[in-house]
Amino acid sequence: MKVIRDPQKLGRLIKEVKRKGKSVGFVPTMGALHAGHLSLIKEARKENDFVAASIFVNPAQFGPAEDLKKYPRPLKNDLLLCRKQKVDLVFLPDQQAMYPQGFVTYVNVEELSNRLCGLSRPGHFRGVATVVAKLLNLIGPDRLYLGQKDAQQAIIVQRMVKDLNFPVKLRVLPTVRQEGGLALSSRNVYLNASQKPQATVLFKALSLARSLIDQGQTNAERIIRRMKELIARKKEARIDYVAIVDLEKLNPVKKIDQDCLICLAVKIGKTRLIDNLVITHEKN
Ligand code: PAF
Repeated sequence: MKVIRDPQKLGRLIKEVKRKGKSVGFVPTMGALHAGHLSLIKEARKENDFVAASIFVNPAQFGPAEDLKKYPRPLKNDLLLCRKQKVDLVFLPDQQAMYPQGFVTYVNVEELSNRLCGLSRPGHFRGVATVVAKLLNLIGPDRLYLGQKDAQQAIIVQRMVKDLNFPVKLRVLPTVRQEGGLALSSRNVYLNASQKPQATVLFKALSLARSLIDQGQTNAERIIRRMKELIARKKEARIDYVAIVDLEKLNPVKKIDQDCLICLAVKIGKTRLIDNLVITHEKN
């Protein structure tokens, strides 16, 4: 496995891989790898001749009051995990390599970036879109792998890929959960022993929504109200949002009579967690 820090060196290696006609799968990460990331890498390994991953804690997607400094960086273990999964290349740039002095060009996927998580994290998706665009330009993969847990991110990247004609196929893979349903996230390490069980309330609220829909409930507002009531019972839970939106524009839906995304962000203590569920509406 090659570990490359320099974008120019990366360019030379990728050129060589392409010259040999190999397909390239790419898994962008911010490190602190868990089973969710590994599921992306495993799929990339299955579907491509060459697998590239990146580890870069992207400052552009963190707000000034967010956890950039304390974001976990267990690099040695991350590289070990990549090696185990037979990743061919890990791109490990530093901030200077990605955002050299004078950097002023950003990618903003309008409308989609100002909703849901974008409301409480202004600038977050601009940072995500910018770094993903840069990484796509540097690596030029055939396939890009993202997790469904970050549903809004995946929808925004999909839109950027389409709007800016990136020649890549986006593969969005299912959320990996631990016991109790908590979606795996690098931020779960912030939860203490009493917060961990409370954090399963996100999945419980989604499961409640699922069962209400299965029982015939189609009124989005009522479903959201029941979800909020359930979450409010947890001592340290503070709701950022609970929403039911369409999958293309992320606009709120009133009635569950189309494919939609049920999504939520909840703070457990100081840790902000997100989760979601896609509802596919069967057309008769
Ligand atoms: O999902 C993440 O870990 C990040 O947002 C990504 C896609 C690696 C961009 O920094």
